[in-house]
Amino acid sequence: MTPQLDNDGKLRHLLTLEGLSRETICGLLDRAGNIRDAAMGRTQKRSTLCGTTICTLFFEPSTRTRSSFQIAAQRLGADVINFDASTSSARKGETALDTLKNLEAMGVRGFIVRHPEDGAVQMLSEHAGEGTTVVNAGDGRSAHPTQGLLDVLTLRQAKGPDFSRLKVLLVGDVKHSRVARSDLHALRTLGVGEIRVCGPAALLPDDETLAGCVSGDDFDAMLQGVDAVMMLRLQRERMEEGLVASLDHYHRDFGLTEARLRLAAPDAVVLHPGPINRGVEITDEVADGPQSLVLRQVSNGVAIRMAVLEALLG
Ligand code: CP
Repeated sequence: MTPQLDNDGKLRHLLTLEGLSRETICGLLDRAGNIRDAAMGRTQKRSTLCGTTICTLFFEPSTRTRSSFQIAAQRLGADVINFDASTSSARKGETALDTLKNLEAMGVRGFIVRHPEDGAVQMLSEHAGEGTTVVNAGDGRSAHPTQGLLDVLTLRQAKGPDFSRLKVLLVGDVKHSRVARSDLHALRTLGVGEIRVCGPAALLPDDETLAGCVSGDDFDAMLQGVDAVMMLRLQRERMEEGLVASLDHYHRDFGLTEARLRLAAPDAVVLHPGPINRGVEITDEVADGPQSLVLRQVSNGVAIRMAVLEALLG
């Protein structure tokens, strides 16, 4: 039994997309699509989570994930507290588990957790009390499941529900990217026709992460005819020295420019999870251009997080 499912096979926590059924993933995408107006604040706040207190428990920085979870929870009527590790007793050495247990003792029932260590969020979920739900907002290099969901929702809106006819290319620092792992889990489960992965050899993992993918370091060749280009951020905070010769070299070999994008299918779309290192992974012209879905991804983040909170806590 996956630790995120209860005895009836229902989602109790959301830790990873690995092993989640197509039905569960599509159910969350459908729900997010149906509540888009509410997610954009165009309708009255809902009361689904009225009386529920949710804490965003972040031990790493965030702009998009934290804000969109907060907005999603508030639009469902929840009370939200934002825990900031840098101004908390974590600075005095209190552990993440003690922090969760203390907040739980105050009646917090939903924890949205980001942590730099692989597996830390699962560990917290295993120690959470009965009736407490934990959502992984990114742990180490392992998983960022709501990012994976919002990415495939964005792709589905742009390209339709038949993923089997799509060629999708992931580019960049796959080795250190939890987004890449969650994207790959979702893309495989939804049956994408061809998944290509491109990056410097030093930034491509040599384990089962790339199973079933076509991988290589020739960006121009990999771009030929793809329907979607999913760019990844260089995770410099998780990288040993020397894996990338220089940012200029990286941009020369793996930066997405307008000229390079013309190698993809004419109606190809470009995604990037943010934050963007402009001029490194992607030029301004592409990031802000007509084929970019970057801000659509951000909007979809609120809808996906509403769907997830509703499914887990509603
Ligand atoms: N995509 C993403 O996780 O962004 P943040 O780090 O700003 O949350």
